[in-house]
Amino acid sequence: MECTKPNFLGFGTWQCSNEEARASVYSAIKAGYRHFDCAYEYLNEKGIGEGIQQAINDHIVTRKELWVTTKLWNTFHKPDLVEYQCKQSLSNLKLDYLDAFIIHWPLSFIHQNDQELYPRDEKHQIIYDSGYSLFDTWCAMEKLVEKKLVRYIGLSNFTVLAIQDLLSKAKIKPFVHEIEVHPYLQNEKVINYSKSHGMIVLAYSPLGGNYSYGPLKDKKTPCLNEKIVLEIAKKHSKAPAQVILRWHFQKYAGDDLYCVLPKSSVEERIVQNSKIFDFNLDENEMNEINKLDRNLRLNDAGAVWWGVPTFD
Ligand code: A2P
Repeated sequence: MECTKPNFLGFGTWQCSNEEARASVYSAIKAGYRHFDCAYEYLNEKGIGEGIQQAINDHIVTRKELWVTTKLWNTFHKPDLVEYQCKQSLSNLKLDYLDAFIIHWPLSFIHQNDQELYPRDEKHQIIYDSGYSLFDTWCAMEKLVEKKLVRYIGLSNFTVLAIQDLLSKAKIKPFVHEIEVHPYLQNEKVINYSKSHGMIVLAYSPLGGNYSYGPLKDKKTPCLNEKIVLEIAKKHSKAPAQVILRWHFQKYAGDDLYCVLPKSSVEERIVQNSKIFDFNLDENEMNEINKLDRNLRLNDAGAVWWGVPTFD
């Protein structure tokens, strides 16, 4: 059956090599995942493309049953580079159309060459680009829909103000908004705002991630090791990751405008993360997890790496 929108349960692919991506995407398709989140910047689109192709060749799935999103990187925001990167991503992924193509960050870096993803000057400062706006980039994204290279276009890591501006001028409205959401950063205001404008929210780092930078850089998968999460998991004979994914489902997915994108490179966990529809968290358990909210952003990459506190 053709995918008309992304399934609640998506699959994240950040922080894995091409080889890991190939194997984990194939395992994920075997386990029933149909929604994949990719990015040019992850440098593993080729592996993902191989995993998808292998699953299609093995008759596990057809292209039309899949929903594949990838992202426009910051160095390709200049309007005449947008289609160029889209076509590179399509070629990497071995696809002839994308289901969604989204702007990865509302930050435009200068393009020096295709390999330099973080161009820096002699003082090690990121070199930002100028002479065009995010709206100009968006207009170039709209053309990809007209050319049928992509079905839908969207945003990632945008603030409400940046979305407001885009919505006031855009011919094609953003279909999805991908943002960080987990128990430490429940992000309700941006979620509700995005949904109220018809966007499907794609939650990245839904398990709280495993960041080597930012405020919890020294803690391995901190959310999964929260005492209350471990207790609830034990009570239901489930894994902590299943409890957190179930919490997302019950808290945000009622109106069909919300998806999660858990990432794993381990087959057993990939399967485990897909089995979250056979149990229920009660009101008290939901509230206990709600209480973990600290408004704690783990991926302010702009502030940590690129000299711009994107969300402040
Ligand atoms: P791994 O790839 O080794 O399984 P997020 O999806 O929030 O970004 O979190 C990804 C992190 O969580 C990765 O470090 C991943 O490690 C780990 N992870 C994913 N699923 C599980 C699971 N079911 N149990 C434990 N850790 C998990």
